[in-house]
Amino acid sequence: MTTVIDGKAAAGDVVAKVKAAAEQLICATGVVPAIAVVIVGQDPASQVYVSSKGRKAKECGFRSIEHALAADISEGELIALLEKLNADPSIHGILVQLPLPDHIDAGKIIQTIAAEKDVDGFHFINVGKLGTGELKTAFVPCTPAGSMLLIERALGRDLSGLNAVVVGRSNIVGKPMANLLLNANATVTVAHSRTKDLAGLCRGADILVAAVGRPEMIKGDWVKRGAVVIDVGINRVGENAGGKSKLVGDVAYTEAAERAGAITPVPGGVGPMTIALLMVNTLASAYRAAG
Ligand code: GUN
Repeated sequence: MTTVIDGKAAAGDVVAKVKAAAEQLICATGVVPAIAVVIVGQDPASQVYVSSKGRKAKECGFRSIEHALAADISEGELIALLEKLNADPSIHGILVQLPLPDHIDAGKIIQTIAAEKDVDGFHFINVGKLGTGELKTAFVPCTPAGSMLLIERALGRDLSGLNAVVVGRSNIVGKPMANLLLNANATVTVAHSRTKDLAGLCRGADILVAAVGRPEMIKGDWVKRGAVVIDVGINRVGENAGGKSKLVGDVAYTEAAERAGAITPVPGGVGPMTIALLMVNTLASAYRAAG
């Protein structure tokens, strides 16, 4: 029997704990966890993500401040805003929604955010902490951190000795995911567009994480029987004249579900966990700030 991993329920559990801990912090210290979310331009997908982050923060009892900036804002103006937020002790988390317009150097912007407020976990200091196993003080990127919780929940055992294959090597998902799995004692392979015999490699995976951004690229017969399959992809396909489309993952879900031991659906799998882990990171930052 295949277990459909319920990311919504898992995220609900995480958010309930965050909310309770936030109440405690506020009660004991008066510090209200606060996140500043910066969006540049009008990308519709980014707008949806940013508003759901704001909504979830409020649900947790946080203060959420959205900075919606025009697409033609200069890099210097954006840096000036981030420096102001870095210096504001009432702000614990800063997130700049990606992608940014081409005239802005996203790498430079990410490094401008103070590492101790970098709740996305993209700053070199946080990347370095994750890479060296300093997980107590690192901010871990939210999507891989949430995926890891789903893997642990699905397996109900430690990962020692299991083969994990991560398909995709992005800084946001693939690389940090590989580091988390390695840290949990899995044997990890990172595959990408130049990998030979990707299907064969995937067939050896006890844990298969798909993060390539290509609709249904991972086929059902690439999945080892009983494997845990985590589908990070969110691909909008089949948009017609009426604007109707549907979301699919990077895994051909129906055929993969016939072989997997546990699999995340799209939507309702990894997505809700990403936002829940952003709340975890923001809360952790507020606790640190409160001493
Ligand atoms: N765009 C897509 N995913 C992310 C994310 O995790 N963080 C930010 N800041 N932007 C994104």
